[in-house]
Amino acid sequence: MQEENISNIEKYGKPVLNSLKFREALEQCHHHSSTVGMHSLNVTFVALGIGYMLAKLHIRTDTRALVVGCLCHDLGILGRERFTSSSSMCRLHPIESADLSVFFADPEDRAKVYDICMHHMFPLLAAPPRTKEGWVITVADKVSAVGERMLPPVRRMWEKRNLKVIPDPFILNTAA
Ligand SMILES: [Fe+2]
Ligand SMILES: [Fe+2]
Repeated sequence: MQEENISNIEKYGKPVLNSLKFREALEQCHHHSSTVGMHSLNVTFVALGIGYMLAKLHIRTDTRALVVGCLCHDLGILGRERFTSSSSMCRLHPIESADLSVFFADPEDRAKVYDICMHHMFPLLAAPPRTKEGWVITVADKVSAVGERMLPPVRRMWEKRNLKVIPDPFILNTAA
């Protein structure tokens, strides 16, 4: 699944990944330990994983729309100093991301990609998604944000104790 997700990201995400906007996204810090670009790649990867699990339940999601929408969902944050407050950034960046996303989306996918970007902040913003793909990103975005904030400090904590990043029960037993 991992390889398939990566090749789908490379295949469907090419126009976004090759854009100047995305290069800028890879430079702008996000969630303290990540960048907007890396976060967007993480969200896309998690969203495709959720899509894969939903497929097992016979719920189909549109992979191409998910890839493009997830890669674009936070492009509206770029140049965050433009925003007068974090609440205005929270409110306005989905609109800017959605407007940008239509340039990258296949005409057939525009409505889904727009929905993914426009409503990804739900429930922080009240308007809920209207598509399955829009619901998938609301979960993938939060999972990725928590991972990006939590994992580096957790990793540092284990490393300080000379333990592996993912605690190995054998190491813990030996230490005890
Ligand atoms: Fe966002
Ligand atoms: Fe995000």
